[in-house]
Formats: sequence, structure tokens, C-alpha cells
Amino acid sequence: MNYIGSKGALAPFILSSATLFAGTLHDKTVCDLFGGTGSVAEAFGLTCKALIANDVEPYSALWLHQRLCGVQTDEALLEQMRQASCEGIVCEHFSPLGEAKRGYFTPQNARKIDGARAVIVHHEKHLARAKLQALLASLLDGADRVANTTSVYGSFLKHTKFTATQALSLRALPATRLTNATVHNREGLALLEEVEGDILYLDPPYNHRQYGLNYHVLNAIARNEARDIKGKSGFGNYYRSRWCQKRGVEEELRATLKTAKFRYILMSYNDEGLLGTARIREIFEEFGRYDCVSQAHPRLRTSKKSPKKETIETLHLLEKES
Ligand SMILES: C[S@@+](CC[C@H](N)C(=O)[O-])C[C@H]1O[C@@H](n2cnc3c(N)ncnc32)[C@H](O)[C@@H]1O
Repeated sequence: MNYIGSKGALAPFILSSATLFAGTLHDKTVCDLFGGTGSVAEAFGLTCKALIANDVEPYSALWLHQRLCGVQTDEALLEQMRQASCEGIVCEHFSPLGEAKRGYFTPQNARKIDGARAVIVHHEKHLARAKLQALLASLLDGADRVANTTSVYGSFLKHTKFTATQALSLRALPATRLTNATVHNREGLALLEEVEGDILYLDPPYNHRQYGLNYHVLNAIARNEARDIKGKSGFGNYYRSRWCQKRGVEEELRATLKTAKFRYILMSYNDEGLLGTARIREIFEEFGRYDCVSQAHPRLRTSKKSPKKETIETLHLLEKES
């Protein structure tokens, strides 16, 4: 998935910096509180003793679960999903078939997505949760590849782009099957009250763009629910992260560092974020020994007008005073 803020390419840099700062990872419990696509969580999970991965968004938690500790996808059910077609919430709210004529998916693909979702609902009562999650993750993956957007779902394109004209295809997603991992779908600060470990990795949103809004269509498919959908882009109610609010972000960072029962805390943040590097340093220093390392990182460009191709990613490091 082409995900805003994905750190796939930076994972080796983050892991080597974590090792230099905190020592070997083999005996450490690591928590990735803002897991997203799971690229960093997976890299930690392959090396550390135990992994706790989390994301507040349902579509992301599903994705994380399948990637990190999912089961093999049931091919027979996936085939049923491929053959299915009917009209449901995607046709009604996110395709030109609905009253609002939103163009996130072509009518054909919207019917296929609704059909595949209905197959999952049909089997919900007797299938194990992990099996359902594997099927849902495949559906999210397939839907995302034929979405008529610039990667995010803040709006749909006026004209149907080539990839959106292709028929929905569903594939089994690989699962790393980490036996040392647990995945949560919680608000980060609330989860921190309940878990403890050695290394806490933070990769919060760094600007106003709320993930719940930018990926609202994936959440609607994941939940099979389209409540309070309105407006041209069809946003429903979505979770508003305090990390995306200029007025809330500083307090959220301080509360996170204070609450964390982890000796080492690492936070990725880039040079265009709501919090400046100097301010982050001041807040980190309230809690212990601070260090930082930086690296250039390619930006996810949703438009050719995006100003720069690269941003500077800084990894802020804290050894918390006990
Ligand atoms: C920059 S992305 C993480 C990207 C991830 N490191 C990767 O490589 O894919 C930030 C993530 O934080 C999640 N998020 C935002 N606010 C949150 C909160 N309060 N608690 C937990 N997760 C949150 C978003 O849903 C999003 O997936």
C-alpha cells in the first residue's frame, strides 16, 4: 500500500540506530505504537524478543495483524470472493451508482467489493478471527489497488485513471507469522497505560492530515459500515488524533513520554511537522538523556505540484530516567 508516512525504506536505519542506542535487540521487548503498514514493526519483530504492534485505525490494525502474525488465506473462500458481486455500501456511497455519484470505484469494481465483503459476512459466524482478518486484508489490498484516487481518499479523481479501470483482483497476502508478536487496535496513549517493555518506537502523524479521513473508505470496508456519510468526498465520522492538532500535539508527546514504561524511546519525525526539532528536543530532555540522528527520505507525492521530493527524517532518541 502506498501509505502516507510509511517508513519501509527507513527500517534498516531505524533498527541500526536503535541497536547503537539501546544495545542488542535480541533480549528486548519492543512496541511500535503507530504501526501503519507494519514495515518497521516487522523489521523489529524479526530481531527482538517480543513485539507489541498497534494502530488506532481499524484498516491498519487489520493490515498489521495479517502482515505480522496472520494465517494462510483460505483459497476456496478467496475464490468465492473473486466471483461475488452485489450492491452494498461501496456502491451506494463510494461509486457513481449512489445518489451522490462519488467516483472512488467504478460501478463494476464497487459491485465486486460489495460482493466480496458479503462473502466474508456470510462466513463470519463460523470462521476463526484470524482467517476473517486474512480475507479482509486481501479485500483492502485489492480495493486500494483499483481506487480512483491519488493514493489517499481525501477525494476521488474527476477522470477515471488507468489502474482504477482494471478489474478488482484479490490475492492472498504474505504473513510473516511472528510468534513473538501481539497486535492491538487502540488509541496509543491508552495502550501505553497497560504495556511495558524496553524500546518504544513512535512514528506519529506529523501534520494536520488525519489518517481516519485520508483512509475513510478503507475503514468503511473494514467495518462494513457507512454511518453519517456526507459531502462531496463522503467522509463519515472519523477518529481525530491529537498528534494532528497544533494545539494538542505538544501535550500528547509529553503525556506519551511520561506514561511510557519503556527505558528507551525512539521517535521518527520529519522537518515539516507541527513540532519543530528544537521543541522536541526540549520536551525529550525533560525525561532523560537525549540524542538524535537524521536521514533524507523520499516523500509520498500525491501530486506533481508537491514542492520537494525529499524530506529530512529525524530519529529522536531518549533514555528515560527511572
Ligand atoms: C506515520 S504513520 C506510521 C507509519 C508506519 N511507521 C509505517 O512504516 O507504515 C502514523 C500512524 O499512526 C496512526 N495513529 C494516529 N494517531 C494515533 C493514536 N493516537 N494512537 C495510535 N495510532 C495512531 C495512524 O493511523 C497511522 O497509521
